[in-house]
Amino acid sequence: MENKIGVKILSTGSYVPERILTNFDLEKMVETSDEWISTRTGIKERRIIAKDQTTSDLAYNASMKAIEKAKISVDDIDLIIVATISPDAPMPSTACYLQKKLKAFNADVFDISAACSGFIYGTTIAKAFITSGLYKKVLLVGVEALSRVTDWTDRNTCVLFGDGAGAMIFEASQEDNDIVSTYLGADGTHTELLNIPAGGSAMPTTKETVEQKLNFVKMLGKEVFKVAVSKMALAVNKAQELAGLTDNDINLYIPHQANLRIIDAVAKKAGVTNEKVYINVHKYGNMSAATTIVALDEAIQEGRVKKGDLVELVAFGAGLTWGACILKINF
Ligand code: COA
Repeated sequence: MENKIGVKILSTGSYVPERILTNFDLEKMVETSDEWISTRTGIKERRIIAKDQTTSDLAYNASMKAIEKAKISVDDIDLIIVATISPDAPMPSTACYLQKKLKAFNADVFDISAACSGFIYGTTIAKAFITSGLYKKVLLVGVEALSRVTDWTDRNTCVLFGDGAGAMIFEASQEDNDIVSTYLGADGTHTELLNIPAGGSAMPTTKETVEQKLNFVKMLGKEVFKVAVSKMALAVNKAQELAGLTDNDINLYIPHQANLRIIDAVAKKAGVTNEKVYINVHKYGNMSAATTIVALDEAIQEGRVKKGDLVELVAFGAGLTWGACILKINF
């Protein structure tokens, strides 16, 4: 008899740093206005990591909340995946720092780099590792300290990003199939649209790269906008197709919270019911890999998600990368 392994989602958790940076604060830092930022992006404020905090600290706080909710011991976790593009350090992985802080020493650990699509990529990896029988309890974290890689003199980017972390715990199951479908995509011909040019082998960090602020995020906003809308709409529809579902079956959509205008355009293009779209971009801005999981955790806490609901996450980011997944929330 076939012994098929499925995935059960046990819990979610999230954490955002205490410090709030408002659009009015930004007016004092660069030539911008609350009016410009609000109408162009929907963002009103974002969270900023404390001086003495690191990316893995944010990840730790979100993970502990998920671990407590799941009522498991850290010793049960056999794999930790951290999705981030703003790690504690280039080496070792932020997952190693997180493992040390959690004292989850039975876990194998690694980071993945898929920018804002990192949590969707991570969900797909978690599913593959669990259903193959390799791992039984997986902690997936989407976390960013983007304020540390932001040029605070560049109004084109600094108004958009924020810091935060979200976590999800998955377990092998004989009965459940809570990761209903996932769909991923990437197009490396667009690496120049959104990147951090220096700090890698292509452009090692030097005095000049620091002076020219090339160790910070650079973006061609308009071009990114266009691809974001078409690829996120495609991903929404593809994940539904793969699951044999339609808009009617989805209880809540959690789009990547980069820009309210992108969210609206994606919903229209994908044929999504507007009332089912969750939005928290006004509070946090774009937290890259942390965005969708923080939004999902908040939606659950607010009662927007009920036991048994199907939630579709969709994201898009540097690479360019994109993806969507349909999750059954059954806890
Ligand atoms: N405050 C005031 N003016 C600003 C500004 C700011 N913070 N940032 C840029 N501008 C200016 C630009 O300098 C430009 O001026 P110019 O025309 O004199 O050169 C002008 O505003 C650009 O305006 P517009 O063309 O209307 O911008 P937009 O509608 O394309 O909006 C973004 C800009 C960045 C908000 C939008 O392109 C966007 O959201 N892109 C996607 C970004 C994203 O989500 N990235 C992450 C993907 S995961």
